[in-house]
Amino acid sequence: MKNKSLVSINDYSKEEILHVLNISKDFENNKNQPLLSDKIIASLFFEPSTRTRLSFDTAINRLGARVVGFTDSASTSTVKGESLKDTIKMVSNYSDLIVMRHPLEGSARYAAEQSDVPIINAGDGANQHPTQTLLDLYSIQKTQGTLENLTIFLIGDLKYGRTVHSLLMAMSHFNPTFFFVAPEEMRMPKEYRLFLEQKGIEYFEQTKMENLEKGDILYMTRVQKERFSDLLEFERVKNSYIIKNAMLENTKETMRILHPLPRVNEIDVDVDTNPKAYYFKQAENGVYVRMGIIAAILGIK
Ligand code: CP
Repeated sequence: MKNKSLVSINDYSKEEILHVLNISKDFENNKNQPLLSDKIIASLFFEPSTRTRLSFDTAINRLGARVVGFTDSASTSTVKGESLKDTIKMVSNYSDLIVMRHPLEGSARYAAEQSDVPIINAGDGANQHPTQTLLDLYSIQKTQGTLENLTIFLIGDLKYGRTVHSLLMAMSHFNPTFFFVAPEEMRMPKEYRLFLEQKGIEYFEQTKMENLEKGDILYMTRVQKERFSDLLEFERVKNSYIIKNAMLENTKETMRILHPLPRVNEIDVDVDTNPKAYYFKQAENGVYVRMGIIAAILGIK
């Protein structure tokens, strides 16, 4: 893992995933470990973010490294026409590691090919969000005591949702059963369904919020307005699934609700105080897991 970019969750083997989860637990137990005081980490956000950027910044600070970068590419030479290739070449001369979010699918892989330092993909369009996946796995393991043989509901925007695509691939190491809950327009793409079929992993597709009593994890997602080219289609599907307390009555005691956040209205605020709601704690876990990822890539742990 040392000096290796993290572009897709498939860049990590099962053993590497479990290694990151283990060292992340150590960072949760001991939150300030200034192991990287000689390192500079670049944070390039070409697309808006709250959690990913701030939890990376927090992780970098807790590790004693320094952060440079931008949160709005409109303030950079990108607006003068500078290419992503040249931007990455330059920034890799200034830093030991680059964290990048970009709206274009494939941009993180391209950046990793141009860069002299490792790239961490903080989300590339509708493609992948591997650090979110690792914190999702950490949250699942922490709440369920295991990653093996769980029943996972993926609910909402399964077409454009990069978090569900990455999570599906990572969970495939652990013999899950999936329930996909989405309207026809936002169905899980064929490539991911084929991936599961080839691995012999069971999945069910449904358009209604039913069978919830079978779930160990309900993973809710936002319908992402920014991914739709047809806003009429967005209006048609935006309120497809809204989870409320009353719908959770027959669910398992140990079941937990996850959401990568931000939410709009797909989880009613009345759920926030339900012990099954785990999404805010999940976002907190992002700091420890991003500390673990940075430490693993820079070869500290
Ligand atoms: N989960 C996530 O990626 O949130 P942000 O868009 O706020 O970073």
